[in-house]
Amino acid sequence: MKFFVDTADVDAIRELNDLGLLDGVTTNPSLIKKSGRNIIEVTKEICEIVSGPVSAEVTATDAADMIAEGRKLAKISGNIAVKVPLTLDGLKACKTLTDEGTMVNVTLCFSANQALLAAKAGATFISPFIGRLDDNSYDGLDLIQDIRTIYDNYGFETQILAASIRTVNHVKDCALIGADVMTAPPAVIKALANHVLTDKGLDAFLEDIKSAGIKIL
Ligand code: G3P
Repeated sequence: MKFFVDTADVDAIRELNDLGLLDGVTTNPSLIKKSGRNIIEVTKEICEIVSGPVSAEVTATDAADMIAEGRKLAKISGNIAVKVPLTLDGLKACKTLTDEGTMVNVTLCFSANQALLAAKAGATFISPFIGRLDDNSYDGLDLIQDIRTIYDNYGFETQILAASIRTVNHVKDCALIGADVMTAPPAVIKALANHVLTDKGLDAFLEDIKSAGIKIL
């Protein structure tokens, strides 16, 4: 499973990239707002840090303007994935931009039928939002499973990009289901390394290293 980080914070992106854990980045208008940066400038900087896909979202709601914005975003770098909302206009823009050779991430997906439409429009990525479904008493992971089954039934190549991930268990469950990519906030990605028994075991080893005077260098 590929790991994307869901942030426009360049310091956080650099830190995870330096750890060797990043396959790409996703942003959205709320994350751009949080960064306090100009969308073109910050997206360009992110593309210089990460070689994998970097999702940048359009602001328009009609297909013609989404296509124009998508073309401008795609010019920033060869690794841009233009993010469009899952609306009929978004699907039209997806088809056009995909036909032009641009990666497209169709976002705000909350149903299996929406994911089916995105695949038919040739999307590179479909972004089902797990956390926001869970927040509303649906099961976000059921959606990931349904999309996996449908895409496998027909051999669709659109990658399932599990988004709105809130917990480390979301990551594990998405990996078990077979999501192609997950995008999560930096804190969730770093928390994947945590285990109380790792900390306890390391403390014991460090005590023995000290008391026995074990040295390698
Ligand atoms: O970028 C899309 C998605 O990951 C948003 O997550 O936490 O705002 O629901 P969240």
